[in-house]
Amino acid sequence: MTKIEIKNLTFNYDGENIFKDFSLTIDERKTAIIGQNGAGKTTLMKLLNGLLKPSEGEIFINGESSDGREVTDLAKTVGYVFQNPNDQIFKSRIIDEVMYGPLNLGETAVEAEKAARQALEKFDQLGLVEENPYDLSLAERKQIAIASVLAMETEIVIFDEPTIGQDFKGKQQLRSVIEDLRQTGKTVISILHDMDFVAENFERVIVLKEGQILADGTAGEVFSQEDVLREAGLELPHIAELSKVLGFPSLALNIADFLELAKQTK
Ligand SMILES: Nc1ncnc2c1ncn2[C@@H]1O[C@H](COP(=O)(O)OP(=O)(O)OP(=O)(O)O)[C@@H](O)[C@H]1O
Ligand SMILES: [Mg+2]
Repeated sequence: MTKIEIKNLTFNYDGENIFKDFSLTIDERKTAIIGQNGAGKTTLMKLLNGLLKPSEGEIFINGESSDGREVTDLAKTVGYVFQNPNDQIFKSRIIDEVMYGPLNLGETAVEAEKAARQALEKFDQLGLVEENPYDLSLAERKQIAIASVLAMETEIVIFDEPTIGQDFKGKQQLRSVIEDLRQTGKTVISILHDMDFVAENFERVIVLKEGQILADGTAGEVFSQEDVLREAGLELPHIAELSKVLGFPSLALNIADFLELAKQTK
């Protein structure tokens, strides 16, 4: 089912077009957007949540045009976790930061605090609710930024590089957050530079370069296109690289794949 439809989008910051006559539909599949620095990934996501406005073309969210809708209105449906948490976080207490979104959507203080605590719990951050976000590490601030968006329970959740600075535990927590969102019928779109995380967690992968889509398919389909990866300046997931070096008949995208292919290759 189509959740987002981008139709003939053109956008520029005040110069050259970043997107020209660009069209894309997003459905319920967990979707990863990948591509080199400057490919236009963040710009595209900011266009989806209304922080930026198309110069031409139209964006439909659940069938409704976002033309003329304010960011605050769109924020009820589209949650966006900023690439840099410092651009998002503005309160001096974590609990206030995470409650801000739900309060803004009209929830009572009790409801907002409950939603905030539930979101923070997903990252084991409940012990920190009274702290100042700026006393935390970048990785923890990123988790606070993610929790702030989760607490709003929007139908569409966009993550801009959520794995930044995350250690193994942080990535595991993120993995279950993303899967839970999918299981509860939310649409997840994420920009990522971590190809291992992409291969393991996303059903659809879109490769962007200079405002154009170079490839769009399952992780298996996209990572098998060596020419596309070269052109987009992307690397293979480590496990896929290893399966290639070992001469397996197809690319492994996770450990289960790898073991299965290893058995076949014996
Ligand atoms: N506020 C801005 N004003 C002018 N140009 C901008 C602005 N933000 C981004 N750009 C330019 O637009 C292009 C796309 O940038 P964007 O941030 O969307 O890329 P990205 O794919 O998210 O890159 P990264 O992986 O580095 O985050 C780049 O050339 C960038 O320099
Ligand atoms: Mg970016």
